[in-house]
Amino acid sequence: MLLEKIEALRAQIKELKADNSEAIEALRIKYLSKKGEVTALFNEFRNVPNEQKREFGQRLNELKTLATEKINSLKEKSQASEAQANKIDITRPAFPSEIGTRHPISTVRKEIIDIFSRLGFTLADGPEVEDDLHVFTSLNFAADHPARDMQDTFFINNDPNDVTRNIVLRSHTSSVQSRVMKTTQPPIRIICPGRVYRNEAITARAHCFFHQIEGLYIDKNVSFADLKQVLLYFAKELFGPETKIRLRPSYFPFTEPSAEMDVSCMLCGGEGCGFCKHTGWVEILGCGMVDPNVLELCGIDSKVYTGYAFGVGVERITNLKYMVKDLRMFSENDVRFLKEFEHVH
Ligand code: PHE
Repeated sequence: MLLEKIEALRAQIKELKADNSEAIEALRIKYLSKKGEVTALFNEFRNVPNEQKREFGQRLNELKTLATEKINSLKEKSQASEAQANKIDITRPAFPSEIGTRHPISTVRKEIIDIFSRLGFTLADGPEVEDDLHVFTSLNFAADHPARDMQDTFFINNDPNDVTRNIVLRSHTSSVQSRVMKTTQPPIRIICPGRVYRNEAITARAHCFFHQIEGLYIDKNVSFADLKQVLLYFAKELFGPETKIRLRPSYFPFTEPSAEMDVSCMLCGGEGCGFCKHTGWVEILGCGMVDPNVLELCGIDSKVYTGYAFGVGVERITNLKYMVKDLRMFSENDVRFLKEFEHVH
């Protein structure tokens, strides 16, 4: 009797079919739950004569294994086909590994910082929302200097009776230099990377914010020759060992003498081409010897100490290195543009 039941069930179980999880669960309950048909046979097993127990026991266990495996395999198949129906690729890695790239401005900023770090410059930082004192007054800007004008500077408040009238978005990172000079006695050797703001219409060639790295070195006997040598090293590290530099006289309120530096054109090597407007040179930074007035305004004895300062625009250098024609590309976050810098380190 029991043997026949086992055989009948075995035949049934082998043929079981179900393709969704509810139907499969129903089968599990029908055969394997406490009141299931396979379990019921185990209860009958008690009545089997002792000498037959061994054989029946074996067959019953085989039946139970068969039922368990059959139901498990139905489950797997239905899960796989459900996943397919939902268009889930179950072989896909759990974490999509799309990796972002460094922004070109960050890459070039780091490159410039690394060059000056090798020369012993350390990093200094300061606020982007600054007061007039640090951005202008202590840097020797006359009260009526045009750079203070609304056209260049973003004022936080326009009311002349309001003290916050003196609060601006810094228009250069020289403000960090005045902060450091006021709190530190020489020797000072710092670079200040940071974002600066100017009230300009946004075009391919100008933006209302950009990034600068300014340098300052103050000690006894610092000369213009020291400045020139540091800038030559910088230009060669940045654009290659063949690079030449030239300094042209210029004007900044906080340096005297002041200069602008050109490097030999990185495209034609100085021969003259469309890129350098056939001059062989491209301008990259402003620099000069710190005006003694600035030293005094910041509490440094100008009879004992001299110093130089320079300021580089990070966007400008990035444009020259990677031939980016439109400044707006840097802040539009167009992934196609950023991807082009994937292999630049
Ligand atoms: N602060 C100047 C600018 O923003 C650059 C500069 C820095 C020039 C230091 C000379 C010395 O244009």
